Amino acid sequence: MRGEPCRLSNFVGRVSKSDTHGMKPMQRILLDTDTGVDDALAILLALNSPELRVEAITSVSGNVHVNLCTRNLLMTLEAMGLSEYPICAKGESQPLVKPLVTAAHVHGSDGLGDVTQLLRDDGSRLYPDPKPRVAAIPAVDLIIDLAGQYPDELVLVPVGPLTNIAKAIIKHPARMRRIREIVLMGGAFETYGNVTTTAEFNIFADPHAAQLVLDFGVPVTVVPLDVTHQVILTGKHLDAEIGERGDRLSQFLRDVTRATMEYHQSNERFYGTYIHDALPIGLLTHPEFFETVEAFVQVETSSDLTQGMTIADLRSERPRPKPNAQVCVGVNAETFLQHFFDRILQLN
Ligand code: RIB
Ligand code: CA
Repeated sequence: MRGEPCRLSNFVGRVSKSDTHGMKPMQRILLDTDTGVDDALAILLALNSPELRVEAITSVSGNVHVNLCTRNLLMTLEAMGLSEYPICAKGESQPLVKPLVTAAHVHGSDGLGDVTQLLRDDGSRLYPDPKPRVAAIPAVDLIIDLAGQYPDELVLVPVGPLTNIAKAIIKHPARMRRIREIVLMGGAFETYGNVTTTAEFNIFADPHAAQLVLDFGVPVTVVPLDVTHQVILTGKHLDAEIGERGDRLSQFLRDVTRATMEYHQSNERFYGTYIHDALPIGLLTHPEFFETVEAFVQVETSSDLTQGMTIADLRSERPRPKPNAQVCVGVNAETFLQHFFDRILQLN
């Protein structure tokens, strides 16, 4: 079961998402993040995707504590030089049941590649703390409010632990049933985990929240490591795309990805970074880049050895229990990566 990541070519005959979705009208989304480096890249892509209306961006503890994730989210928006901001709201600091685990060793102690430690010649910070643009409303209440404001329209895109989503469901299940779809980054099915042998970070960090979301009944699409590990942003590719550009965004891209590229150089022998959280954004705007299958997905919530493991039988020839999710099993990595650059650098 667990071995080489799945390749698009392995899924001849799989249902391409575009077979069922085709061209899509503008979609309203709420992006729920534990900003982190790849969350920041997802924010850049989402806000440069005309197919999406980003109604709000919320934060949750994950890669680092939610206080830092919230600051990092705002710093990312400032790096974009936006004239107007989506609503930003701070979310939950602790998982439903487990104690908080973070991934600062990957994303830097500040959660954003340690850019907050970069100084100008005069000793001032290259990336100062952002202006306080956080809404007074907690993220869980904002999610519930927007679900009511846009019934059957709002798509939730959680790319961190699912704590905020689960708490919104617990607090107001009737309202949350009006969510159109949940497209989440998380899980690992036919590949190894990235926290333990079997578990991917977002699910591992709050497995009880993940199981609750999967049990709830709103359509869920899971974008797991099986596909996100196929899309690597290398230092060489970044240099080729931004070259000597001196604009603020290009500098931010170099600075924010450096720490994770160095981490992967030391630990996975490539100088580059995964862009996990950008893939759910791409799946919404360009489903033709991806393959998904229906599956019955469960989460291990009790075993010490395999806690946070996502379990589903993806073999097409096997009889399956009633599916509770679509699982993304293939991606055209090269096409998506070029699309990512074209959009965030606003090349087209
Ligand atoms: O396992 C990858 C996921 O965990 C990404 O969302 C990354 O940002 C971290 O949250
Ligand atoms: Ca994340």
